[in-house]
Amino acid sequence: MSLLTILLISIYLISSNFSNKNEAKTFSFKETTIDDIHIAFKQNKLTSRQLVEFYLSEIQRSNPILKGIIEVNPDALFLADKADQERKLNASKSLFRLHGIPVLVKDNIATKDKLNTTAGSLALVGSIVPQDAGVVKKLRNVGAIILGKATMTEWAAFRATNLSNGWNGRLGQALDPYVASADPSGSSTGSATSVAANMVAVALGTETAGSILSPSSANSVVGIKPTVGLTSRAGVIPISHRQDTVGPICRTVTDAVEVLDVIVGFDRDDFPATKKASTYIPHGGYRQFLKADGLRDKRLGILKDFFGYNDIKTYQQHFNTLRQKGAVLVDNLVIPYTDLVYNAIVVAQNIALSAEFKMDLNAYLKHLVHTQVRSLADVIAFNKISPLEKLKEYGQDIMLEAEKTNGIGKLEREALRNITKACKYGFEKMMKENKIDALMSPGAGIADHLAIGGYPGINVPAGYDKTGAPFGISFGGLKGSEPTLIEIAYGFEQATHIRKPPPSHPQ
Ligand SMILES: *[C@@H]1O[C@H](CO)[C@@H](O)[C@H](O)[C@H]1NC(C)=O
Ligand SMILES: *[C@@H]1O[C@H](CO)[C@@H](O)[C@H](O)[C@H]1NC(C)=O
Ligand SMILES: *[C@@H]1O[C@H](CO)[C@@H](O)[C@H](O)[C@H]1NC(C)=O
Ligand SMILES: *[C@@H]1O[C@H](CO)[C@@H](O)[C@H](O)[C@H]1NC(C)=O
Repeated sequence: MSLLTILLISIYLISSNFSNKNEAKTFSFKETTIDDIHIAFKQNKLTSRQLVEFYLSEIQRSNPILKGIIEVNPDALFLADKADQERKLNASKSLFRLHGIPVLVKDNIATKDKLNTTAGSLALVGSIVPQDAGVVKKLRNVGAIILGKATMTEWAAFRATNLSNGWNGRLGQALDPYVASADPSGSSTGSATSVAANMVAVALGTETAGSILSPSSANSVVGIKPTVGLTSRAGVIPISHRQDTVGPICRTVTDAVEVLDVIVGFDRDDFPATKKASTYIPHGGYRQFLKADGLRDKRLGILKDFFGYNDIKTYQQHFNTLRQKGAVLVDNLVIPYTDLVYNAIVVAQNIALSAEFKMDLNAYLKHLVHTQVRSLADVIAFNKISPLEKLKEYGQDIMLEAEKTNGIGKLEREALRNITKACKYGFEKMMKENKIDALMSPGAGIADHLAIGGYPGINVPAGYDKTGAPFGISFGGLKGSEPTLIEIAYGFEQATHIRKPPPSHPQ
């Protein structure tokens, strides 16, 4: 070999080495989307290992302050290497769009791996779940990597009325990544804050009454609260099978919709709810509703006095934008049977949830392979002797009330009847008579209306207040109206592009 050849080969090796490094550098990790990642994988500009390493370094840097992630999966890098290998071998699995992409799941969603599933409670540390939750099975089937567990308000806030949003006995208080003193909201706190702070791109949250929509609003991210039953609740630490639902929290409507497409559908372990709701799933999935002209001719309802309080100027601007994009705003709506609806939300809902929580939680705990608590009574007893001062300070009044219930009796039946009536003659009547495609609210204002009927909603970032704390706008509709809500949410997002990442340290 001549000296020249060696020289040329050396130059080639050095430059190709360089260009590889440059390529990895040209991939922009911050605010990246599923589509960006998928394309970078396909073009060999990024590996799952690089992606997971990036998130692990961000978690190492930010999580000690933000406390968004309660546990990191010790197998994350191993799973990333496996995904990279599958892609190299062109395995059919690697064609899925979530293949090799890290996902954070709320700590009340079971994973049968090295991660604990605890709803933030010390009482469940070390417990062993029988299997992956239904939604986790669906994620793994398409090759997604479970990066870890997101922190949450302990027991999804169903422990004490005065529990601080984003606090639990295991990790303490999660912070809002934008403004440290702001309320990070809950109960899917870590799912929203971790996505907002670029510690991950995709997360799952759960909602019983506001727990996806509200933290999404507070952290400038997109959250979808699906129709109850559209996503499986099997393996999710429950509050109520009547209201609980699992949904995606991401930075863009498109990403949230991609994840929704993966997690919806029948699960024999959540029967009959997932069978019934599967009739809502459109042929060809949800991505087809990401339409540039999604707002055209949409009738958007606004409840009387609903936008009166916070940042009315920003919302007025948004209303103008929505009209410019072809939407019709129907203002001053009043939900009929106001008293009945008020009773359903404020009184009847709590009566029903209280009894359902005890039954559903006891059933969940019974099915665990190993645990030190087998019933709500055991959890209450554990909380009483817990050494954590905060646990004592916060109390457990909601759990104590729930423990007093005894199944669905006369009072609960009356409450459930009231709820059914309020939904049918209140929300549904108003939506149908006024031909409303979506009801809008500042933040998660409509969450309770959606909660009691199992209706879907989507939150999209809408602005930042004087302190820099984010707020969103929510769109809610009738059961199975996800296609329409997606068109509206995407149309609004594309017309406004409000989301921006938080500062590198919360202000
Ligand atoms: C990978 O497999 C798909 C089908 O499974 C095929 O269409 C494609 O051409 C393959 N690519 C390579 C590089 O082998
Ligand atoms: C799960 O909890 C156990 C305590 O029982 C702990 O040793 C372990 O590190 C936890 N797992 C993870 C992944 O943090
Ligand atoms: C929370 O409520 C309990 C009673 O359930 C009370 O003892 C405690 O002082 C309250 N804590 C805070 C921080 O408000
Ligand atoms: C049900 O509604 C009726 C009429 O509004 C009310 O008087 C009653 O207290 C409600 N009961 C429950 C359990 O919510």
